[in-house]
Amino acid sequence: MDEIVAVAKRRGFIFQSSEIYGGIGGFFDYGPLGAILKRNVKDAWWREMVELRDDVVAFDASIIMHPSVWKASGHIDAFHDRMVDCRNCKHRFRADHLPSLEQCPDCGMRGTLTEPRNFNLMMKTSIGPMEDSASTAYLRPETAQGIFVNFKNIYQSARKRPPFGIAQIGKSFRNEITPGNFTFRVREFEQAELEYFVPDDGNDVAQYESWVAARKQWYADYGVRPERLRFYELSPEERPHYARAGTDVEYLFPWGWGELESIAHRGTYDLDAHMALSGKDLTYFDETTKAKYTPILIESSAGMDRTTLTMLIDAYEHETSTDPNGKQTERVVLRFHPRIAPVQVGVFPLARNKPELVERARTVERGLRPHLRTQYDEGNVGQLYRRQDEIGTPFCVMIDFQTFDDGAVTVRDRDSMRQERVGTDALLGYLRERI
Ligand code: GAP
Repeated sequence: MDEIVAVAKRRGFIFQSSEIYGGIGGFFDYGPLGAILKRNVKDAWWREMVELRDDVVAFDASIIMHPSVWKASGHIDAFHDRMVDCRNCKHRFRADHLPSLEQCPDCGMRGTLTEPRNFNLMMKTSIGPMEDSASTAYLRPETAQGIFVNFKNIYQSARKRPPFGIAQIGKSFRNEITPGNFTFRVREFEQAELEYFVPDDGNDVAQYESWVAARKQWYADYGVRPERLRFYELSPEERPHYARAGTDVEYLFPWGWGELESIAHRGTYDLDAHMALSGKDLTYFDETTKAKYTPILIESSAGMDRTTLTMLIDAYEHETSTDPNGKQTERVVLRFHPRIAPVQVGVFPLARNKPELVERARTVERGLRPHLRTQYDEGNVGQLYRRQDEIGTPFCVMIDFQTFDDGAVTVRDRDSMRQERVGTDALLGYLRERI
C-alpha cells in the first residue's frame, strides 16, 4: 500500500488535501492523472447504467436538501457510529473497529477507554445569515434521498413506468470517526447510485438478482481480478428489517476485504417514509391498469473513490524480468484497462534534438488526439517507457528515422512489452481495435 500511495503522489494521481498546511484528515485531491482516472471510472459506470439502457434516466440533485428529508430517512435519529475515546492518549475509535473495549489499541493502556456513545455522521452547515437551530442544514450523506423525494417529478416528466431506474453520481459527506486506508474511508466522497423502481408483481427478487449479475459483469468488463472480488450476500440478520435481500460487493485490499458497493432490495421503505412525513403522494398511478401502488426499490450504490482506488490497486504491479542478455530489470506498471487508463497512447520521437522527428511525432500525436487520450513526450527512450508504464499507458508509439522511409511507427504494448511496426495510415484503427 505504501508503494501505491507513493506512486499515486509521484505521478499525480492523488494528493493529501491542503498538504501545505499539514493536510486535513479524510479529504483528498485528485491530481492531473487521478482526475482523469476517476472521471473515466464514473463515465464507465454512467455508460453502462444509463446510456446503454432505455429504462434508466439521469438525475442530479442538490447536495443540501430540506432537513426534513433526513428526518424521514432516519439519518437524524439513527445515522451514527458508536465512538469511544482513550482517556490516556486521547485517541478516538469506532467501537465496532476495536477487538476489545478493555485495552486501547494505540497506547496499550487498560481501562482507559470510555463507554461507547453515539456519534451522528452527518455534517452540519447553516443556511442564510443567522446561525441558529432553524438555519441548520446537512450535507447529504448519500445521494439516494434526492431521487426518492423527486420520484413523482421524474416519472411524470420522463414518462416512465416501473420497472425503471433513476441514476445519479454526486458528492456525499460523512463525518467518519476514523477516516483511513488512503481514499477508502474519507469524509467527502462521490457515490454512483441507481434506484430501480419495480412493481410489486412477484418479480422483485428476480429484478434484484439481475442487478447483482449486471454489476458483476461491470467489474469483470473492466478487468478487476476475479480472485480479489467477492459478492457477499447478507443474511437476514445482517440486512435492514425492511430489506428482502442485500449483497455487498467487496474487494481484497492490501489490508483485507472492504466494501465497494452495496446492492439492496429496499422494499417500499423509502417512499413510505417520505409520504408519511411530507403528507405528499409518491405512489405510482398506472394509467393502463388504473392501479395505484408504491413501487419496490432495488438500489445499487457504489463509491467512486473506492472504485478508483480499487482500479489503482488492482492495476499495480512491481515486476522483475530478465532481458535476452540475462540482465534483470525492474519496473512498476499499472495495468489499467485501456478504456479507463488516463493516457491511452504515449507518442515520442526517438531523439528530442532532431527537429524532423519531433515534428513528425507531434503530427502523429495531433492526429490521434481527437479520438484517443494521448500524450506527447520526449527524452531518454527507456525513461519514457518507464514513466508511461508507471502511469498505466497501454500503448506507446515511437517515431524514428525509419518512419521517413516506410511510413510506419513502432507500437509498444505495455503488458507484453512487445513492439510492432504499424503503418501510420493504419495506426488509429490498430489502436482502437486493441483499446
Ligand atoms: N444509499 C445507500 C448507501 O449510501 P452505503 O453502503 O452507506 O449505502 C454506499 O454506501 C457506498 O458508498 C459504499 O459501498 C462505499 O463505496 C461508499 N462510501 C460510503 N462511505 C464512504 C466513505 N466514508 N468513504 C468513501 N466511500 C464511502
